[in-house]
Amino acid sequence: MKLFVDTANIAAIEDLVPLGIVDGVTTNPSLLAKEDEDPSETLKRICELVRGPVSAEVIATDAEGMIREGRQLAAIDEHIAVKVPFGRAGVRACGTLARENIRVNVTLVFSPTQALLAAKVGATFVSPFVGRLDDIATSGMELVGQVVEIYDNYEFATEVLVASTRSPMHIVEAARMGADICT
Ligand code: G3P
Repeated sequence: MKLFVDTANIAAIEDLVPLGIVDGVTTNPSLLAKEDEDPSETLKRICELVRGPVSAEVIATDAEGMIREGRQLAAIDEHIAVKVPFGRAGVRACGTLARENIRVNVTLVFSPTQALLAAKVGATFVSPFVGRLDDIATSGMELVGQVVEIYDNYEFATEVLVASTRSPMHIVEAARMGADICT
């Protein structure tokens, strides 16, 4: 199982990379806003440090805006994966960006149907938010199991990126279920 680190903090990434366990990075606009540098510069530096997939999220809420921002983010570095939120606009944007060979991480996934649609439009990664589901008394890990099963049934290439993890047990359970990545 691959391990990504959910931060935009260069010092934290520099601290972890020498351990040889960091396969990629996930960021979001809030994480990038906490850093002093311009977000594009921070993303570029992260890509240079990690040389694995680095998720960078759009802030637009309409499909055209997501596609425009997605193309700009993808131009920063070949390692960028454009993160789009699940929804009608996100599904449309994912399909368009994926056809342009831009890697897309469909995030804020809370159900197996959402994960199925993300895979159908060519998402490279799908991010079920396990901690947020646990917060509302719904099993986040049960969702991960369902998504892994569905993707296996149809041999979808989309990788299951377990996000919003809150404890080491989430990571152990994700590994036992055969999830591709934890962040
Ligand atoms: O990138 C999304 C991730 O940071 C969400 O995690 O802990 O805020 O649910 P959390």
